[in-house]
Amino acid sequence: MSSAPPTEALSTEALLATGQANTLDELQAVRTRYLGKSGLITRELGALGKLPAEERRARGAALNLLRAGVEAALRERGETLTRATLAARLAAEATDVSLPGLDLPVGGPHLISRILGDLEDIYARLGYTVVEGHEVEDDQHNFDALNIPWYHPARDLWDTFWLEDGRLLRTHTSPMQVRYMASHPPPLKIIVPGKVYRYEATDATHESMFHQLEGLVVGEHVSMADLKGTIAEMARGLFGPASRVRFQPSYYPFTEPGADFSVWWENPRGESRWLELGGCGMVHPNVFRAVDDLREERGLERVYEGKTGFAFGLGPERIAMLKYGIPDIRYFYANDLRVLEQFRGELE
Ligand code: PHE
Repeated sequence: MSSAPPTEALSTEALLATGQANTLDELQAVRTRYLGKSGLITRELGALGKLPAEERRARGAALNLLRAGVEAALRERGETLTRATLAARLAAEATDVSLPGLDLPVGGPHLISRILGDLEDIYARLGYTVVEGHEVEDDQHNFDALNIPWYHPARDLWDTFWLEDGRLLRTHTSPMQVRYMASHPPPLKIIVPGKVYRYEATDATHESMFHQLEGLVVGEHVSMADLKGTIAEMARGLFGPASRVRFQPSYYPFTEPGADFSVWWENPRGESRWLELGGCGMVHPNVFRAVDDLREERGLERVYEGKTGFAFGLGPERIAMLKYGIPDIRYFYANDLRVLEQFRGELE
């Protein structure tokens, strides 16, 4: 008889070792010890060949059974340990959703954007369409068609940034009056918010870039009274129901008559006064004529001569400075958060 250890003893020992392995590494060591290349069970299987044939059969069957049993136990223990490791990791890395979150720095609309937004709301309620023009314009739309030919001294009212190719940065939003009428027939009611540029030295009340809101209404029998009512409605929307509007004669080549308008502001700090907000007037017949010329060039019908309309233009920076007591227009674009954050609009 051989001195081979009985399979029962080997089985008990291997199953016990498997059950006692507490980590996947320990379990791997057990597997190597019994089933590795020179493992205890592997060795016994290798020794089978040296046994006499009559013993080999029974011993072989017993060893195969043993190996299968140990393999099954190792697999099961392995699964248990893997699950336990995962559970431990999940517990350790658990996220406490009840912790207060970190505040991310969130931006908000710039004060000027908010004022333009308020103005758009007011005019949308009055049935106006919002359109935007080009910041790079040409002489014809910015000046000529607005009744400001090249020799007209009024050009000096708008110091201009000229581009090398002869175009320019629009000095006001009024060129959009021309562009819009050249491609749309009356009646119309539009507002044009946007950036404009002036070639000027900057100081507390002058910036080389600022914003305007243009308005244009054209139809039949549009009157100065309509214009005044519209400006008054805007003033009530901006400054409250008690605000009043005042017109003073003024000169713009593209209006006849032209006016500057001021708004009476009931200031809660007790500093009520007239605020001069912008220019306006009835559309000059020469503008309608120039627009019809442009339309004709494009093969469109002449439809503006004989129509009536009004236009107005105002600056949101000025509204903001007056309404919030901001002393210097340069604060809006110096990107000093100490200023901007005071007027930060909430993002919805
Ligand atoms: N475009 C004029 C300006 O920039 C303002 C204005 C617009 C005046 C429309 C009258 C009518 O000064």
